[in-house]
Amino acid sequence: MCKPICRVTVRVPATSANLGPGFDTLGMAFALYNTYTFELAEKTEVLGCEARFCTENNLALVAFRAACDAADVVPPPVRLTVHSDVPVSRGLGSSATMLVGGVVGACRLLSLPLDAQAMFAIVNRLEGHPDNVAPALFGGLTAAMQENGIPYVARHTVHPSYRFCALIPDFETSTKKARAALPKEVPFADAVYNVTHATTLLSALINGDHALLTASLRDVLHQPYRSALIHEYEDIRSMAEQAGAIGFFISGSGSTLMTVYTDDKYIARMQASVQTLSCAWRVLPLLPDMDGACVI
Ligand code: HSE
Repeated sequence: MCKPICRVTVRVPATSANLGPGFDTLGMAFALYNTYTFELAEKTEVLGCEARFCTENNLALVAFRAACDAADVVPPPVRLTVHSDVPVSRGLGSSATMLVGGVVGACRLLSLPLDAQAMFAIVNRLEGHPDNVAPALFGGLTAAMQENGIPYVARHTVHPSYRFCALIPDFETSTKKARAALPKEVPFADAVYNVTHATTLLSALINGDHALLTASLRDVLHQPYRSALIHEYEDIRSMAEQAGAIGFFISGSGSTLMTVYTDDKYIARMQASVQTLSCAWRVLPLLPDMDGACVI
């Protein structure tokens, strides 16, 4: 007879959303992880993270309860222990890791009858847009959208010639503020510009067309409005270009700036360049993650 599961650990990757022109649709998972351990307990508690997240409102617990609700199961008290390598409020999908960790943790701990699409629907509803939660759940390069309240995802593999490096500053940005900085309406030409660029970007990422990637990464829907919220944006952008980056974009809603490169000397050049800036910028090479959330 199987023993009932009373403890489960879920590993969830960091993500970069938007990828320039793919606002609220494109995203990628990276091999930098948070883990969420759920144990059946006498009372609910959260351990291992900053005090501001050690409450019942912790997003992993919110998602855990949402999964229980979806399966019509009364959520039991649990001890949640968090181990985080994904920096908070830096545009690397830390809240998506919590939501995905909570839903996958609940499904495995309580044997809930929810398939991947049902889990995707829950985390997408909680997050409000699918571009971080899709790669966090499924891994890889994802194009995701919702139609009539149903989220859809197409998953791809990034061409192996691309290398990625996150430039992570010592300051946070709030997604709420970054969304408030966007215009309520845009000219028709701007909408067309982003549709064309996002479409060719996806091909460039899959096929390894470097010139197309560089041209396609430009966007007019969000980065021109948000760059002002990121200190030293123009300085670091020109440093990355001089160091040989073939791609540069705001990761999610910032504050991290993501770069794409192929040259072996790029990392050392960036490490030297950022020393001259006023803010502390961490130069972190990242490999794509193809697994998405998994129970370990
Ligand atoms: N697409 C979202 C945004 C990602 O840019 O606001 C951050 O949650």
